[in-house]
Amino acid sequence: MKNLITSLLIALLSSTVSFAAETVKLEKADIDLSNKQALERGAGHYVTYCMGCHSIKYIRYLRLSRDFDIPEADILKEVAPIGAGIYDKMLNAMNAHDAKKWFGIEPPDLSLVARSRGADWIKTYLKSFYTDSSKPMGANNVVFPDVGMPNMLWQLQGEQHPVYKMENQKQVIEHLTNDGSGKLSAEQFDDFVDDLVNFLVYASEPAQVERQEMGKYVLFFILMFTVIAYLLKKEYWKDIH
Ligand code: HEC
Repeated sequence: MKNLITSLLIALLSSTVSFAAETVKLEKADIDLSNKQALERGAGHYVTYCMGCHSIKYIRYLRLSRDFDIPEADILKEVAPIGAGIYDKMLNAMNAHDAKKWFGIEPPDLSLVARSRGADWIKTYLKSFYTDSSKPMGANNVVFPDVGMPNMLWQLQGEQHPVYKMENQKQVIEHLTNDGSGKLSAEQFDDFVDDLVNFLVYASEPAQVERQEMGKYVLFFILMFTVIAYLLKKEYWKDIH
C-alpha cells in the first residue's frame, strides 16, 4: 500500500513538472543528417559562435572531414579555427576556472546536449533569449530562466524584448518582440539555428551518419535477396507443377 501511494505521488509530481515545462511551446528543429553541406555549415557556426566557451571533446576535425565527405584542407580552412590541426579535438579556448569566474558556472560540454535536451529544445533555447538588464549577462531566456550564458546570436537575430501578460495574478511572458536590427532575416536566422542544431544532433552520436548510409546498403541487399529468393522459388516449383 505504501508503495502504491509513493508511486501515485511520483506519478502526480512528474505530471505537474512536465506540465510546467510544456507551458513554453517548443519549435520544431529541421534535422537532416544526410545533408552534409548543412552539417558543414552548422560545424562552422558552432566553431565561430560557441566554441569560445563550449567543447565537444570527443570529436576531432579529421572525423568531420570523413563523415561529411569534405577534404581535410577544406575542413581546416572553413570550419576549424585558425591554427588548429586536423587531429585536434573540438575543445574550447577557455579554461574551466576562468569560465566559472566569469559566468558563475562552467559552460557544459555540448557532446551529449542534443540527447539530454532534445533538438527542439535547443532550437527554441537559441531563439528565446531576450534583453534583461537585471542579469549579469544582460540577457535572459524564456526556456532557461536566469541562464548564465550571454546571447551569442543577438547580432544575427536582433534584440528581443518580452511582452508580458497576467496569468493567475503572476506576470508571465506572452511572447517576444524583435527590434529588427539583426543582420539576418527571421527566415535566414531560423535556417542558421537549424544548421547549428543539426550539427549538435550529429555531434551527440557521430556514428548516426555512417549508420544511415549503411542502412541504404542493407535495404538494397534485402531487395536483391528478395528478387533472388523469388526467382529461386519459381525455379524450384517449375518441376513440381
Ligand atoms: C560566452 C560563453 C558562451 C558561449 C560563447 C556560448 N555559451 Fe552556451 N552556455 C554558456 C554557459 C555559461 C552555460 C551554462 C548556463 C547555465 O547553466 O546557467 C551555457 C549553456 C548552454 C546550453 C544549455 C546546456 C544545458 O543543458 O544546460 C546550451 C544548449 C548551449 N549553452 C548552447 C550554446 C550554443 C549552441 C552556443 C553557440 C551559439 C553557445 N552555447 C555559446 C556559455 C556560453
